[in-house]
Amino acid sequence: MHVAVLLFASALPLTIVALDNGLMKTPPMGWLAWERFRCDVDCEHDPKNCISENLFIDMADRLAEDGWRELGYVYVNIDDCWSSMDRDKEGRLQSDPKRFPGGIHKLARYVHDRGLKLGIYGDMGTHTCGGYPGTPLDKIKIDAQTFADWEVDMLKYDGCYSNVTEQEQGYPLMSEALNATGRPIGYSCSWPAYQGGLPPKVNYTQLGKICNLWRNYGDIQDSWDSVLNVIDWFFNNQEVLIPVAGPGRWNDPDMLLIGDFGLSMDQSRAQMALWAIMAAPLFMSNDLRTISSGARSILQNKMAITINQDPMGIQGRRIVKEKNGIEVFWRPLSSNASALVFFSRRKDMPFRYQTSLSKLNYPTGSYKAFDVFAEKTVMLKDSTDFVVSVNPSGVVMWYLSSPAKRHLRQFYKGGRSRDEGKAIPSFIL
Ligand code: GLA
Repeated sequence: MHVAVLLFASALPLTIVALDNGLMKTPPMGWLAWERFRCDVDCEHDPKNCISENLFIDMADRLAEDGWRELGYVYVNIDDCWSSMDRDKEGRLQSDPKRFPGGIHKLARYVHDRGLKLGIYGDMGTHTCGGYPGTPLDKIKIDAQTFADWEVDMLKYDGCYSNVTEQEQGYPLMSEALNATGRPIGYSCSWPAYQGGLPPKVNYTQLGKICNLWRNYGDIQDSWDSVLNVIDWFFNNQEVLIPVAGPGRWNDPDMLLIGDFGLSMDQSRAQMALWAIMAAPLFMSNDLRTISSGARSILQNKMAITINQDPMGIQGRRIVKEKNGIEVFWRPLSSNASALVFFSRRKDMPFRYQTSLSKLNYPTGSYKAFDVFAEKTVMLKDSTDFVVSVNPSGVVMWYLSSPAKRHLRQFYKGGRSRDEGKAIPSFIL
């Protein structure tokens, strides 16, 4: 089916307006403490890994010195457990004096001096999820001002210990309060994750107006099972999620685990590829001081990042779900290009998947296919049958450009299931 018009119509900026702070026109990229370092506050026994200014200084140094910043990884984001248990005499939040002796403002300066940005974490309930002081309704203004005074660049506003009514008031109020400070502060809202992530409980039109990104779903954990669970939810609900994403307003499937303990190299490439297809924020949560060269090269893959950061900001979709466990994902990109990901859920051996671009509903023409991880180029016609060998829980990812630049309006809205193709002569890549 060729129903391109529908997809492009749903991507037009006419229906959805983004938060007007001019930020995050492409998905934000950086580093976030939570998944890897959690709420480790035991600096006495675990000084290298505890939530302290030293941890963020170390990560800022790595981002600035190891080639991350130039690729776009510019946010250094604090998560939960950074604050003191008590507010100061003026009622302001303050960082834990032992673990952040210099304070957040000084840390922000350190980060800015290295061409990076600082993110912080708050919670719209009485307490954060980790039990630290929250930012309930009556504290929103003062806390937004404190963050701005500290020259913070991004806020993740969590939702533990708050109810539906408070969230309905609190998330828009924080958006207004941040805007009122006059400092551009990227705003990440966990609101939808607390309301099941789907309409009618979640109003994505409103979220697009008040937040730059939002967590739609539960927390990612350091395992392939967890990544699969996140992938399933996001692509099973793609018809709801695709139209609401765009420049300045992103769905957030949570952090990248690449470089941690739970994923193989194939699974790491799969996470990177599918987060790029989803136009997802790329927040690594790993230890950049000790990361392996394999994990680093996946996270620093220039073409995967280019696909993620495409300026049109159209979230991609699953277009094929084969019974044999192979799935194909597609994302339209600027300059008449597109990305394809062939993904295997199989557990046996590399699967030789045979298809053609015309079977994937590409319009008639010649294409240049660049294999993002193998870094090889191949020319092919829409009608050429080819075989990709996809490893178990792995991907093959292509960046496709069309030298002829023809027939692009025929791009379609996919999403149907198909059975395995018949055996036909193939072009092997
Ligand atoms: C929630 C969030 C996580 C993290 C923790 C901190 O679970 O979803 O991303 O911020 O709180 O306690």
